[in-house]
Amino acid sequence: MSSFLRPDLLTFQAYSANPPDKTPSQLLDQLDTNECPYDLPPAVKQQIAETYVTQIQTNRYPDGSHADLKAEIACYVNEMAGIEAIEATHISVGNGSDELIRSVLIATCLGRPSSILVASPTFSMYGILAKTLGVNTIEIPRRESDWSIDPDRANAAIAQAQRDGQPVRAIFVVHPNSPTSNALSADEIAWLATISDETLVVIDEAYYEFSRQTLVGQLRPNWVVTRTFSKALRLAAHRVGYAVALPDVISIFEKIRLPYNLPSTAQAAALTALSHRKTLLAVIDEIISERDRLATAFGQLASLRQWRSDANFLYVRGANDSLNLAQLATDLRSKGTLIRHTGGGLRISIGTPTENDRTLANFTALLADA
Ligand SMILES: Cc1ncc(COP(=O)(O)O)c(C=O)c1O
Repeated sequence: MSSFLRPDLLTFQAYSANPPDKTPSQLLDQLDTNECPYDLPPAVKQQIAETYVTQIQTNRYPDGSHADLKAEIACYVNEMAGIEAIEATHISVGNGSDELIRSVLIATCLGRPSSILVASPTFSMYGILAKTLGVNTIEIPRRESDWSIDPDRANAAIAQAQRDGQPVRAIFVVHPNSPTSNALSADEIAWLATISDETLVVIDEAYYEFSRQTLVGQLRPNWVVTRTFSKALRLAAHRVGYAVALPDVISIFEKIRLPYNLPSTAQAAALTALSHRKTLLAVIDEIISERDRLATAFGQLASLRQWRSDANFLYVRGANDSLNLAQLATDLRSKGTLIRHTGGGLRISIGTPTENDRTLANFTALLADA
């Protein structure tokens, strides 16, 4: 292989999403990426299409300042959290929140000895993006009883990284965590508040609308909250994410992002989705009650162990090591249920009631055979 390429990238494993299955003979219930199971209502889609036709000039670059979108996001964040503190200067917009994760790494780690700290199992993109940038990732295990982070263990890892000359510049936590579905506990939040301002604390609230728990009202100088339009706001196809932090941090994210990182159509879609937020978020209650229905039913399956979920997905493992989860995921797929085998367990997104019925029936049938 060409020697101009970085040798570490030759063996690097990129994030691999399941390709959408287009074979009509094998339609799958796509319960592997934690999206909202419902497309945008046709009238909302139509409005985005009209904006495209009447207002977007395709020969012109998008609004690189994201001014309108930032103002609307700030209103949304305040309204949902019942606060007034957030203004457009507290917001940076990314091409998905994945882009913001990369901005964090660039802003904190590149060009100097650095590490990031993650608590596993967790969202894999932190480690994957760190690797692409040559940034070291320190992983500590979560407590298996409730998937919380042990602050003593985390502090010990931070101190060790300092001694090793690769200080932890950013800590990534998910609220609620993926794949394990637990929101941060009061103890974990208290620990995050003790992190010194040598380190940026990233609180990833991708599933905020489902957990209805947020730390945006308690922002500290070294905290950043990231969110996405890909889940509850039903815009995964458009790739829109945002960060909320104090203006000093946001101004650095704004400096290092690409100038036109968000296409005009994505900005229009995000603005339209926000203007219909009441309609779009009206299905959250159904998704939460479906989650609880599924959790109760999974509780009857003796071969599975599950944990409480604060999100729009469930996380299960085998009640003992004899259950082959990789095989179970493959067998579910062949029955039409696509879930994610990750972090040593199975992550099952909550779908429509019909999809959930099929999921449950497929699990029950396969586990009866196991
Ligand atoms: C915890 C978490 N953060 C971030 C993302 C990425 O979101 P986006 O689609 O905005 O890049 C995901 C996507 O699954 C996620 O689970």
